[in-house]
Amino acid sequence: MELPFHTLQWIGGRPGHVSMIEQTLLPTQRVDHVVRDVPGMVDAIYRLAVRGAPAIGVAAAFGVMLGVQGFRGLSPEETLGRTREIAATLAKARPTAVNLFWALDRMVARADREAAAGAGGDAIVAALFDEGHTIYREDRETCLRLGEVGAERIADGQTLLTHCNAGALATAGIGTALAPMYVAAHQGKRISVFADETRPLLQGARITAWELAQAGIDVTVITDNMAGHVMKSGKIDAVFVGSDRIARNGDVCNKIGTYSVAVLAKEHGIPFYVVAPLSTFDRELTDGSQIPIEERPAEEVSEGLGKRTAPPGVKVFNPAFDVTPAALVAGIVTEAGWIDQPNRERVEAVLREAGALAG
Ligand code: MRU
Repeated sequence: MELPFHTLQWIGGRPGHVSMIEQTLLPTQRVDHVVRDVPGMVDAIYRLAVRGAPAIGVAAAFGVMLGVQGFRGLSPEETLGRTREIAATLAKARPTAVNLFWALDRMVARADREAAAGAGGDAIVAALFDEGHTIYREDRETCLRLGEVGAERIADGQTLLTHCNAGALATAGIGTALAPMYVAAHQGKRISVFADETRPLLQGARITAWELAQAGIDVTVITDNMAGHVMKSGKIDAVFVGSDRIARNGDVCNKIGTYSVAVLAKEHGIPFYVVAPLSTFDRELTDGSQIPIEERPAEEVSEGLGKRTAPPGVKVFNPAFDVTPAALVAGIVTEAGWIDQPNRERVEAVLREAGALAG
């Protein structure tokens, strides 16, 4: 299943560059942004030219490729040292989506393995290119699998609600939370989607509505404070959202406002589903309170709509994410299948089975 755009792509060989849809300009302008070096990639990730947890992971892997592609004739030690520095620089771009660190750890681990096996500097760089392209390819395959698994619980005629953008524009493939919708539509099920606008940066209105409309899926934008009313009036059959990080007990971190949607869904007896690849699970964290929550500039709230909407100098609080307790989650869709009523035991069992947890 192909959508009519690529969120981000590596262009060329070695040397090459990254081309990505400049998401800050959607939906009014569809512009490709070219990234040619590590500072450029940090900037693109920080200012949300590329955003969404899996896409940030792929962008970070591509960032390492940009950083190492000019290395020539370096020793393995120098290559490893500089690769680690590049990864450390990219890791500072944003703190919450664990996929960023997962991808960087994977790149560094590959370089370490190659060096341990006796590879020279140039061979390590070649291996890093292979790993980066593999992360990209796997993300596309994983999205498709998430879509197939998630679509099992979407019936013909249903109306779904989503928050933020966990679609193709948040991944290298067809998305996470939106993937089941694309697959369901592909299977001939007639579905409708309510997209929360998602203040302050409007990823739902700007990006989710843009990509669902491109794909011909019926989409209706609402402001975030309308979700309760829409649920109460019986319009919503299920909620599907993505995630930036999931703790071992099933607590789910996602875009600010997701927690409120989950509480509303519980109150109205609507299943609240999370769709996320296994790379979004953080094995190090026992619960969601340990997840670092990014705080972004005040202007995103006070001037985010292109005009000042709060008095100058007034205090602003702008956390970009929140944590939904596992108890509010009806199910998590992963490439390894559904985790129903997630809790520590069920999450750890899936991670162990997938080889992502020792013991
Ligand atoms: O700040 P953003 O736009 O990067 O936030 C994105 C989200 O919260 C998504 O829901 C999440 O990353 C899942 S993406 C498949």
